[in-house]
Amino acid sequence: MGKILVTGGAGFIGSHTCVEFLESGYPVIVLDNLSNSKQESIRRIEEITKKPIDFYLADMRDENAVRKIFTEQEIDSVVHFAGLKAVGESVEKPLEYYENNINGTFVLLKIMREFGCKKFVFSSSATVYGMNNPVPYVEDMPTSATNPYGYTKVMIEQILRDFCAADPDFRAVALRYFNPIGAHKSGLIGEDPNGIPNNLLPYIGQVAVGKLEKISVFGDDYPTPDGTGVRDYIHVVDLAKGHVCALEYADQHKGFTPINLGTGHGVSVLEMIHAYEKACGHALPYQITSRRAGDIASSYADASLAKQLLNWEAHETLETMCADSWNFMQKNPNGL
Ligand code: NAD
Ligand code: WQD
Repeated sequence: MGKILVTGGAGFIGSHTCVEFLESGYPVIVLDNLSNSKQESIRRIEEITKKPIDFYLADMRDENAVRKIFTEQEIDSVVHFAGLKAVGESVEKPLEYYENNINGTFVLLKIMREFGCKKFVFSSSATVYGMNNPVPYVEDMPTSATNPYGYTKVMIEQILRDFCAADPDFRAVALRYFNPIGAHKSGLIGEDPNGIPNNLLPYIGQVAVGKLEKISVFGDDYPTPDGTGVRDYIHVVDLAKGHVCALEYADQHKGFTPINLGTGHGVSVLEMIHAYEKACGHALPYQITSRRAGDIASSYADASLAKQLLNWEAHETLETMCADSWNFMQKNPNGL
């Protein structure tokens, strides 16, 4: 069997997806430059699955390094997670974001073409629905972005659409993730951000273990049931399983296919804080502050296409998402 090259496989979503591929019997190779992750996560994937991973410490923009992997290994498909992902930082450093995310994807596609490798699964994002679409988001809505990070996702989807049109045998699935949270049940892998977290869940987790003092709730005057922002949080293990289904779909279907991976269900910031309080067993201090620039009131998926095409749907609950996140935080208060 050919192998799967997982770019960014040491990161949060990539590591969980490697576990699911390995447990489904697919051998994986990981390429990661460890710019936002640690090699320890590779060791832990091996510990969970009891299976070995060939790890390449390399930058996806390094054409020779990527060609070397394709020369040494029989690569059947590429699952592409590698990229920079902090929205605020992308506004400060647009060139770094375009350079890393777009050029990295160019190099991968170019080398894939060179070696006749035709299967690609890409980490897209619900951010491509922009500010103007009504919820729930459906895959055929127009895409747009409000920051350089989001534009890298919109642009890469376009590049994939064009690449598929030029090579009728190529297949690319763009998985539009909603808000991935939680951790593997073992507590061995999870989200381990550098510095102060930007996203809600790792922030709550660090307040829960006592590393941060209190949660700032960014606005309570949105047109939502309790006034706080509503998002479609999805357990990272459910999300990871979606990649196995997407790769099997790509095996059978040519062309470009964007697919939402979400639960189809929205949860507010206050609901999330209270769910986490139940999981960790104590109250979490929070204060209402002003809105964060660029935030929207509500974002959740129409999850029916994933069910229809991939026979995939999310199974985990808000309770298990919080419990698994808390388990990881307790076992790894200082990260991996
Ligand atoms: P992450 O930062 O944990 O993982 C990304 C990995 O890519 C890291 O291990 C990093 O070291 C690696 N990387 C970055 N640039 C690289 C390069 N040039 N060469 C090699 N490796 C490189 O992030 P994540 O949360 O696991 O996200 C994975 C993908 O999913 C990203 O593309 C992200 O944009 C996308 N996504 C994430 C979310 C989310 O909320 N976490 C939501 C939607 C989409
Ligand atoms: C969730 C909710 C905040 C932090 C971002 C990216 C998106 C995607 C996922 C990659 C919102 C509120 C947050 C805090 C808060 N990434 N919040 N206090 O903004 O939905 O999505 O990550 O593609 O592109 O934009 O996720 O976790 O930052 O915020 O009140 O300290 O929590 O306002 O309503 P978001 P998030």
